[in-house]
Amino acid sequence: MKDTYTTSRRDLLKSSALAGGTLIAGCLDTTIDNDPSPDERELPEPQYGDPDREYQLSATESEVIVAGGESYNGWTYNGEYPGPEIRAVEGERVRVTIENDLSEETTIHWHGMVLDGDNAMDGVPGVTQAAIEPGEEFVYEFDAEPAGTHWYHSHVGLQLDRELLGPLIIEERDPHIEYDTEATLVLDEYLPTEPRVETSNGNGGGMGGMGGGGFPDAPPAEGTLINGRLPDEPATVDVEEGSRIRLRLINAAAAATYEIGIDDHDLVVTHTDGPAVEPVPVDTLEIGPGERYDAVVEARSPGTWPIQVRAVNKSTSAGRALLDYDQSDGDVTEGEIGSRQLQLSDLHAIDSLDEYRGEPDRTIDLTLSGEMMGGDEWTINGQAYPDADPISIEEGEHVRFRMANRSPMRHPMHLHGHHFVVGDALKDTVIVPGHMGEITIDFVADNSGAWFFHCHHLYHMETGMAREVPYEK
Ligand code: C2O
Ligand code: CU
Repeated sequence: MKDTYTTSRRDLLKSSALAGGTLIAGCLDTTIDNDPSPDERELPEPQYGDPDREYQLSATESEVIVAGGESYNGWTYNGEYPGPEIRAVEGERVRVTIENDLSEETTIHWHGMVLDGDNAMDGVPGVTQAAIEPGEEFVYEFDAEPAGTHWYHSHVGLQLDRELLGPLIIEERDPHIEYDTEATLVLDEYLPTEPRVETSNGNGGGMGGMGGGGFPDAPPAEGTLINGRLPDEPATVDVEEGSRIRLRLINAAAAATYEIGIDDHDLVVTHTDGPAVEPVPVDTLEIGPGERYDAVVEARSPGTWPIQVRAVNKSTSAGRALLDYDQSDGDVTEGEIGSRQLQLSDLHAIDSLDEYRGEPDRTIDLTLSGEMMGGDEWTINGQAYPDADPISIEEGEHVRFRMANRSPMRHPMHLHGHHFVVGDALKDTVIVPGHMGEITIDFVADNSGAWFFHCHHLYHMETGMAREVPYEK
């Protein structure tokens, strides 16, 4: 249990959040003790101590270099793309101070953190906080739970597609797998122009050949980036023969689902969206916007091999990084990738899923669709957020969402503040396949607050495919 000071400080964070104001630790002095003795003037130690990790981010406009000689003006954290890695050990307390040096308001969402008791730290403007004004600062603080490969990104408008994103890695105290080294691969689209909603008309957005109108979509990407690099100057992952490397894969793209594979190597999938699964060897896997997979690769085929990333159902050129053995001469070997593709049914959580089994207390049917002809909205049950009813739930309930996709495009649906069971896996983002695809998720309402539920295709979210999920009192 956390002490009352902690709570009151969090309340202060909350009210600061709601006021959209800045919070500077020193300001708190005056609000706690009426008549402090000199010694007591120091802030009392909260029971969890000072945060274990502190980071400082500044959101700025900056030049993003994607290959030698190729750059564009993006928005980044600390001038880096992907943004600086935030790393902690599970259970630690993390504090991130963000300074907004942009000309627009912004927020940060900690994608994958459940934020138990910390709904106000979730970074959804108008739902959990007022957006941070230009020139202002905001302090986020949260528990590093659960362990896994996560990420952070702006949750305002289309800012994610301007590259306001970075990896958030929470190390588990007791991994269920063995590995020697690790590398994080952030997959993204190369969009050197200003992001804006477009209506797809057969240019690869999934409506090809259907004629007539279209759905709101992303502008076509000009390439695929791995750790911010185009394939002509790829990111390199070093391995030693005989070692095992854990790859942490993050799809940070606004719109593209990717298929990833490594020539001549297996991917042994070990985690999805953080939680551990029974290791399963595959040749390739599909990863939707917002999803993460961890895979262990055994280095037993010396050389320099392509790590291939291909956008599914899009004509965008593929991305590539290199798996480079230490004794390799650097010449890239073109090998083969087999056809075993990871299926949702291959994923089996290590943690017990008992509490998610049995009949739900509340079942909610959600139809995901758009307007077939020239519409400018994506909808859930015919409503486009923010003009949409909240999906209210109650503390303690076992909740089931039954999602049915009445559109030809995939929707990577993400629930904030919870992990859910889908099939036999525990995830926070899941692709609902196009063309009448159906996915059912179950979760336990054990984290009261107002949470966001939305499609992680940024342009679908922006044009309505989102809902608030508040806990009723
Ligand atoms: Cu990664 Cu609501 O987002
Ligand atoms: Cu979608």
